[in-house]
Amino acid sequence: MSGDNLQQYVDRILFTEEEIQRRVAEIGKQITADYANRNADLLVIGILKGASVFMADLLKHIDLDVEIDFMSVSSYGAGTVSSGDVRIIKDLEQPIMGKDVLIVEDIVDTGYTLKYLVENLLARGAHSVKIACMLDKAERRVTEIQGDYVGFPIPDEYVIGYGMDFNQKLRNLPFIGTLNPIYYRQ
Ligand code: IMP
Ligand code: MG
Repeated sequence: MSGDNLQQYVDRILFTEEEIQRRVAEIGKQITADYANRNADLLVIGILKGASVFMADLLKHIDLDVEIDFMSVSSYGAGTVSSGDVRIIKDLEQPIMGKDVLIVEDIVDTGYTLKYLVENLLARGAHSVKIACMLDKAERRVTEIQGDYVGFPIPDEYVIGYGMDFNQKLRNLPFIGTLNPIYYRQ
């Protein structure tokens, strides 16, 4: 991958910057309403690196006292296929006992990553754990995991942009698109 023109990597735009921003504002409003009368502290956890852009945008639409933190996890599997063997690369900087936790993730695919995270955070004594994900690839799910707040459902296609990468690049595209097939090497 080289060159300055990012458009060459994009096949189709699925969601424009405007569509994304409108939806993220709606989700933020919904979260604000749902957590308004909580009794516990709210901790919003962004999952690096894919959720970084969604996390930044979403937080600006949550009109509540929140703390934020980040985790980084990797799921080891054959090639780009996720597996149940999830490992924590960067952990939280604080205990979460008794807190309401909102996990912010870019996309739920098989659901292995989030299944591991939800179980892990509940085991640490979180009062509640919910999931906000920008995209939901439901066709690919092999776990019972569901997003509590979902930006958009998408078909089983590899997507890039708005935090999501291809070989660690293209996360900075402001829209969500499919990858130009000439870049697939599988
Ligand atoms: P899961 O454990 O299979 O649900 O994997 C979820 C993770 O895989 C997401 O957090 C993404 O990092 C990555 N992922 C899944 N599908 C895509 C995609 O279409 N584009 C970019 N990353 C993806
Ligand atoms: Mg991810």
